[in-house]
Amino acid sequence: MSSLLDIAPVIPVVVIDDPETAVPLARALVAGGLPAIEVTLRTAAALDAIARIAAEVPEAVVGAGTVRTPADVAASVAAGSAFLVSPGTTPGLLDALEAGGVPFLPGAATASEVMALAERGVTEMKFFPAEAAGGLPYLKALGGPLPRIRFCPTGGIRLATAPDYLALPNVGCVGGTWLTPADALATGDYPRIEKLATEAAALRR
Ligand code: 3PG
Repeated sequence: MSSLLDIAPVIPVVVIDDPETAVPLARALVAGGLPAIEVTLRTAAALDAIARIAAEVPEAVVGAGTVRTPADVAASVAAGSAFLVSPGTTPGLLDALEAGGVPFLPGAATASEVMALAERGVTEMKFFPAEAAGGLPYLKALGGPLPRIRFCPTGGIRLATAPDYLALPNVGCVGGTWLTPADALATGDYPRIEKLATEAAALRR
């Protein structure tokens, strides 16, 4: 796989409560042009959802998000995750991510956290929580002293604000939950999800 940040302009972050929704949801996102899908480990259904998508939607690149512990890494990889995303990084988690055998985007929100990851050879990471941590000006400021680091900012980003992030030289793609509204998932409104994905896939980088 080339860089995770280069697959599409947006990585949908999805919270799946009902594993039955996983496959049609992934198909809608792929049909809209967003093949990289992050399923957060915030629900009991997440690992089952990842396994189903990995098995039944080969066009998708499905990964696990909200990976917080080495046990999360092991379970996510065993379920078939093609990549791993964490909200922040600890030394123990980074060891596990490196040993996991799949690409990963570890979370960072400060210059020191970014530098600690760079020291370990990581040059692509998630900037989280993007809006709350300082948003565009903050990310732009990090690019001055740390120009070789590329980010996927996530947290509070929507269709209207994504283009400004994508215009930054140190942003490869953005992540967000706006593509999979809970009510659309609850009612099985996959055409709406595909439409949201199509809009996001058309964003320029
Ligand atoms: C994440 O898990 O990356 C974020 O919680 C997604 O944030 P959003 O819901 O504001 O898009």
